[in-house]
Amino acid sequence: MEYTPRVVIITGAARGIGYGIAECFAAKGDRLVIADLDRAAAERAAAGLTESAGASEAIGLACDVADRASVRAMIDAVIERMGRIDVLVNNAGICPFVDVMEMTPETWERTIDVNLNGAFHCTQIAAEHMIAAGDGGRVIFITSLAENVTGPAQVDYGASKGGLRMTMVGFATALGRHGITCNAIAPGMILTDMTRHHWEQPGPAEEIKVRVPVGRIGTPTDIGNAAVFLASKEAEYISGVTLRVDGGHQACCV
Ligand SMILES: NC(=O)c1ccc[n+]([C@@H]2O[C@H](COP(=O)([O-])OP(=O)(O)OC[C@H]3O[C@@H](n4cnc5c(N)ncnc54)[C@H](O)[C@@H]3O)[C@@H](O)[C@H]2O)c1
Repeated sequence: MEYTPRVVIITGAARGIGYGIAECFAAKGDRLVIADLDRAAAERAAAGLTESAGASEAIGLACDVADRASVRAMIDAVIERMGRIDVLVNNAGICPFVDVMEMTPETWERTIDVNLNGAFHCTQIAAEHMIAAGDGGRVIFITSLAENVTGPAQVDYGASKGGLRMTMVGFATALGRHGITCNAIAPGMILTDMTRHHWEQPGPAEEIKVRVPVGRIGTPTDIGNAAVFLASKEAEYISGVTLRVDGGHQACCV
């Protein structure tokens, strides 16, 4: 049977994990929306996805997920240009790495606004369109191992990701009857601009070999492959769960 390309919105996909996810959907021939704070970078990413990664169509749109009006404008533009939404990946996220005792309220609030409130805005508004179309849908939330564990410089991040996990579970209960599944992917240690400053130092690079059973740092493609699976027909009975993609890191106590 001929494959019908799906319309896939990925937030924060101008680079890093989001871009890796976009490349994996592009390889299927899907129609992609790169929604990012950085409009120029989103447009460059979209151009690359159609030129060399296999996407049947890709557009880059400016969007601050923390701003509900900006999310609504982005989704209105998607409906106008592409007509529907099949998959939403809530990937946009920040991690300021500030010790909780030094953290300003503004930094705390921005982390919660982007990582947690942003996914609420995107999911609620995208799901309105999925429900109206009546064809079901898929929502994937990119959480973190920090949905369960955290540290002094990631208290805001852990709070946002723990909340994001329960947001995913709650939306799964609300949207299942419309044929819309909701799941999370919790990446382990993935080399991107968010983490490069840490993992490219000699000590941490060695630490990966000890703490990650598969013996390497993760890539954005590792996360993209999991996202493509959760968006597939084969995953239609999976909803309300977190899939850890961490090379066995959280299972390992050494
Ligand atoms: N890199 C890791 O090791 C790791 C591990 C676990 C979870 N994650 C999660 O994966 C996601 C992506 O992380 P990454 O490492 O690729 O980060 P990154 O910093 O490399 O890229 C983040 C992207 O999101 C965009 N963005 C930031 N704020 C935004 C906003 N308000 N609205 C729209 N776009 C915004 C940025 O412009 C950028 O393009 C995040 O949710 C992060 O918490 C990353």
